[in-house]
Amino acid sequence: MILLDGKKTANNIKDEIAIEVKKIKENGGRIPHLAALIVGADGASLTYVNSKVKACQRVGFNSTLVDLPIDLTEEQLLNEIELLNKDTEIDGYIVQLPLPKHIDEQKVLMAVDPLKDVDGFHPTNVGKMTLELPTFLPATPYGIIELLERYKIETSGKSVVVVGRSHIVGRPMSILLSQKRKAGNATVTLVHSRTTNLKEITLKADIIVVALGSAEFLTGDMVQEGVTIIDVGITRVKDDSRKNGYRLAGDVHFESVSKKAAYITPVPGGVGPMTIAMLLKNTLLACKMKGL
Ligand code: GUN
Repeated sequence: MILLDGKKTANNIKDEIAIEVKKIKENGGRIPHLAALIVGADGASLTYVNSKVKACQRVGFNSTLVDLPIDLTEEQLLNEIELLNKDTEIDGYIVQLPLPKHIDEQKVLMAVDPLKDVDGFHPTNVGKMTLELPTFLPATPYGIIELLERYKIETSGKSVVVVGRSHIVGRPMSILLSQKRKAGNATVTLVHSRTTNLKEITLKADIIVVALGSAEFLTGDMVQEGVTIIDVGITRVKDDSRKNGYRLAGDVHFESVSKKAAYITPVPGGVGPMTIAMLLKNTLLACKMKGL
């Protein structure tokens, strides 16, 4: 069993980006600038956003954190978005999800300027991605594609099962893996909460991407020998033996599944760091596109 080291791979990507930023600086160009907007920051969301800001510092980007109160109205949030759209200093930004219940997520994502939408969540960019036109790819599926590519895991003609149909991970992942591209050309099955014979399907898979947000959902009896496992989940599970009172669990029961897997991503240190690296890559692209 080989661990797919997302942390190391993401660090390699960050080093590549840092070299590009250095060149931009030497040539007197503009430094990429990423902003992150967060509403009513809870512990987990703030941790994610802070790691995105820290990653910017590491590669030499400028970054801005817009931390807004939980009782902010939808209109006020849309005003903040408009400010970011107009701000010529900012190349790209993300609105950290989930948003509080009183705010219409779709309306907010639609308000983001597609040219600054480094998450790739705007319908214009989802459409471009689907049609294989150049655009920002959503960072998590993009990170998984990159991880498969860098570890030279064959996807062409393989049977891939994506578990979960979220707009952020499962759906775009299923689209990208089926496309004519590197780490593509797979025969993709998307399974979800209404799938009746899930185990029958996962047992036949060469590669399984699990993106459900359900701790340790995929167990050893559901996979075949030699499978490649990509675990997107990261859930805080109560654990009184830990100082902070919780541990981080993936969507995969690591102990049983890793006994059968040829390749598997750990949690933490697998998909998570890759997501951040690809967000930086998208920001660099946004900055370069602006200069054209
Ligand atoms: N919440 C969970 N994943 C993501 C992500 O990739 N981007 C944003 N903006 N919010 C998230």
